[in-house]
Amino acid sequence: MTDFTVTPYDVRGTIDYEKLLEQFGADRLTDEQINRFPNPVHPLLRRRQFYAHRDIDRFCDAIEAKTPHSIVTGRGPSGAMHLGHIIPLYFAKYVQEQTNARVYIPFSDDEKFLVKDRTLETIGEQTRDNLEELLAVGFDPERTRIIIDTHDADVIYPLAVAFGDAITQSTFNGTYGEPENIGHSFYPAVQTTHLLLPQLIHGVHPTLVPIGIDQDPHVRVSRDVASKRRFPVEKPAALLSKFLPRLDGPGKMSASGDAHATITLNDDRESIATKIHTHAVTGGQASKAAHRKHGGDPTVDVPFGLLQAMFEPDDERLAQIERDYRDGKLLSGELKSIAIDAINEFLTAHQKRKTQLGPLETELARYRLTDEERTTARQRVGHNELKSMN
Ligand code: TRP
Repeated sequence: MTDFTVTPYDVRGTIDYEKLLEQFGADRLTDEQINRFPNPVHPLLRRRQFYAHRDIDRFCDAIEAKTPHSIVTGRGPSGAMHLGHIIPLYFAKYVQEQTNARVYIPFSDDEKFLVKDRTLETIGEQTRDNLEELLAVGFDPERTRIIIDTHDADVIYPLAVAFGDAITQSTFNGTYGEPENIGHSFYPAVQTTHLLLPQLIHGVHPTLVPIGIDQDPHVRVSRDVASKRRFPVEKPAALLSKFLPRLDGPGKMSASGDAHATITLNDDRESIATKIHTHAVTGGQASKAAHRKHGGDPTVDVPFGLLQAMFEPDDERLAQIERDYRDGKLLSGELKSIAIDAINEFLTAHQKRKTQLGPLETELARYRLTDEERTTARQRVGHNELKSMN
């Protein structure tokens, strides 16, 4: 028995990430695999915030051979976005800059409506808010597509129907537990559509899904559908990340949970500072004298964990901070200040790009699927076009 739970719909307890891999049947990333990504390898990967994978070698082969490869990572618009949410997005952008990968970003507004207690209207507002955050990341519009389930139903629905036929209710129950309602039961067919979509548009090619490990069940379902060989696709690969810790302890930063334990993308310097100073768990000693004498423990220190995950990309500087903290030269308050500065610098750049965006509809237009892409995808799963209806 384990004392933690990780599913797409429930993350609880103190997660043993090694045990989780055994449970899910995913693999630990090797140094060799990490080093197959172009140099410099993103800190999230180098520092093993992304720590596990499924079948990543074919994706790396494609990077090396410069043959087509895609990334799919999405967003469930259930609230304001926080630091944890941008991990796969900034990672995808970085790889796109390095390798010219196509990036597909689906928004599961349907999913969040079906599993959360929100009105469609609220979900719609959150979708708009989250789309702005996404656009602020700055993907290449030529190589990036944004899909919103209820707005792109002309392509999502026919594909999800095709895949829905290949997923049984007992697969759902075995993978996710009891569904909330029948809409929820259908949703895995939709996320499978997201993960297979690049191949249905551009032909069979390696696809990587970088995501929080709670989303792995969706990857398993899509790989299962792909392996039935009814459709012209290969199994998507996955890169699985640990959760960014909550400021006040282990567990996952949550969009719907307590706002004070979570740094959102809207936070200014002052609120970042307040949140970290008041809530962040540290590895410091009880008194300054004891800290000078015994030193701090970076392994349990949340501000250090944030720097390590990605906010201090320089390895030398990070190592220096770690040494000084262990030696007692650097106090917890000082380490907090370093983290506040680093996160503020990152968010200020993000927020600046957000203010430079034009109207949402205009911005989004550059990222929507073209008519030809929609038609191709529908035809590849076997739908005939009704020409006279166009
Ligand atoms: N289900 C995801 C969530 O709740 C969002 C999502 C939808 C997603 N489609 C995806 C994530 C495809 C990764 C890949 O957060």
